[in-house]
Amino acid sequence: MCGIIGYVGPRQSQDILLAGLSRLEYRGYDSAGIAVIDGDGGLGMRKRAGKLAVLRDDLASTPLADGTTGIGHTRWATHGGPTDANAHPHLADDDKLAVIHNGIIENFAELKSELVGEGVAFHSETDTEVAAAMIGREYVRTGDLVAAFRAVVSRLEGAYTLLAMHEDHPGLVVGARRNSPLVIGLGEGENFLGSDVAAFVEHTRKALAIGQDEIVAITPEGVEVTDFSGAPVEVEAFEVTWDASAAEKGGWSSFMAKEVSEEPEAVANTIRGRIHEGRVEIPELDGMDAFLADIDRILVIACGTAAYAGMVGKYALETWTRVPVDVELAHEFRYRDPVLSPRTLVVSISQSGETMDTLMAVKYARSRGAKTLSICNTQGATIPRESDAIVYTHAGPEVAVASTKAFVAQITAIYLLALHVGRVRGAVDPVVAVEAVTELEAVPGKIARVLETEQARIEQLAHWMADTRSVLFLGRNVGYPIALEGALKLKELAYIHAEGFAAGELKHGPIALIEPGQPVFVVVPSPRGSAEMHKKVVSNIEEIRARGARVIAIAEEGDAAVLPAADEVLRIPLAAPMFEPLLAVVPLHIFAMGLAEAKGLDVDQPRNLAKSVTVE
Ligand code: AGP
Repeated sequence: MCGIIGYVGPRQSQDILLAGLSRLEYRGYDSAGIAVIDGDGGLGMRKRAGKLAVLRDDLASTPLADGTTGIGHTRWATHGGPTDANAHPHLADDDKLAVIHNGIIENFAELKSELVGEGVAFHSETDTEVAAAMIGREYVRTGDLVAAFRAVVSRLEGAYTLLAMHEDHPGLVVGARRNSPLVIGLGEGENFLGSDVAAFVEHTRKALAIGQDEIVAITPEGVEVTDFSGAPVEVEAFEVTWDASAAEKGGWSSFMAKEVSEEPEAVANTIRGRIHEGRVEIPELDGMDAFLADIDRILVIACGTAAYAGMVGKYALETWTRVPVDVELAHEFRYRDPVLSPRTLVVSISQSGETMDTLMAVKYARSRGAKTLSICNTQGATIPRESDAIVYTHAGPEVAVASTKAFVAQITAIYLLALHVGRVRGAVDPVVAVEAVTELEAVPGKIARVLETEQARIEQLAHWMADTRSVLFLGRNVGYPIALEGALKLKELAYIHAEGFAAGELKHGPIALIEPGQPVFVVVPSPRGSAEMHKKVVSNIEEIRARGARVIAIAEEGDAAVLPAADEVLRIPLAAPMFEPLLAVVPLHIFAMGLAEAKGLDVDQPRNLAKSVTVE
């Protein structure tokens, strides 16, 4: 997920672009760049790896020539690590055309080989440079930038917002969007494009939304929007209600609120490009079939929330690969004498890719002869660089310390890995695999439904419980790690005692904690899965209710047995049991965030915590 901005008007564009990018940094911040058509009609471009400040300082010391037409980009790397060369804009047509992009072009490899065959030289690893070369090739034929866009976008598959400008056309910026956001800011004698209104809200609150598969051309005098066939389309105008500071969070009250709202997109983007005709094929694992067919053990290592994703993943990995799986806290693994071999696959999970405990454990595993695979949300981070293989999650930048969208993306990535390895090993029935893929592809919509139907009620519940001093969480099977995750979120956000247990463990001690009024969340397994397990969890609820507990059950729609047992029931859509964790965790993220808000705490930066623990 990247931040993009375009400007045409009477003012010098560099400061406008840089200020807009600084409000978009939450969308991506591993590299940044701008391009400007200067007063002499030349196109100047500067881009730098690192945060926006690196680019700003570079421009301060060696500025680009002034110009009133410009585009800017702040990147969250997907294809190609965060380097100067991979930063946007990318140039084409003898450096007279500049292009920036947000999204993933899934078929860029075949398009790239077509262009290489025509002698096009590439200077980066990105999919964006391929799009730039294609637009440049078309532009040379017609001299019409909009027509060039129209010829190219129909060949691009995946998700993209593209902006481009050509030095032949000062005062013109063209954009196109498919499955990725783009909005227009309407000024007085000037106009803007942005990945969201944060890009231009300090200049204008008048905006136009661009629909799917549409192309927009902005000049200082006006805006033209057409569909991919060239037919003009009506666009919906709206007034931006946010102020500039709220816009930095995309209008949300906190980055965490924004990131919870992005959980559907995080799952969808992690899936994208990895399922073909019902089969999971992870491109990053090409060429590893022989190794994956030969492994005899999988060890998952991580910390915190990432470790809970690994615990959920264990169920899927063992079910679909039939390889024994252990999950271990990285900092524990690091200081014991594990039995590893070249047939052990050590899978690390890390949002930041910089967690020192996990990094040191990965290095230790490699030193002991194991192969390592990194599941990571940050392109080019240290842990992926230290690993033999990488499966990136595509949750976009996660700014809030409490990990939410990355968590559901991590589970998604492990499920994809399990189905990929299961297919390679012939361990999973193809019919079962297709059913699992269908279930996985339905998850984004189901998470969105939980957010739509339950969020307000859960936030209300959290406000009522603002004075709570302790909350317990129970779960069983794949629901057990979700109970642990719910407890961790409450600890780190609301600073209260919270503990997760395996529901079956209750009678082995924890039930002594139950006293009148004790709030307990229970993640109830689907009755359509193991009826016996469902029955046992419902009786757990009855046991603790009998001792005065206040039970909030998370149960699937239609599960009637839980109603008489619980005080509150939060509903999740029907899903196959293996996929329920992805839905059941959403109410717990909302609840923890709501309780922290009710207590007036800093939701995004809780006390004593850092987003990435880069010390052991
Ligand atoms: C989760 O909400 C916490 N912020 C923390 O447990 C985090 O998951 C853990 O530190 C691992 O971080 P990583 O995914 O960046 O490695």
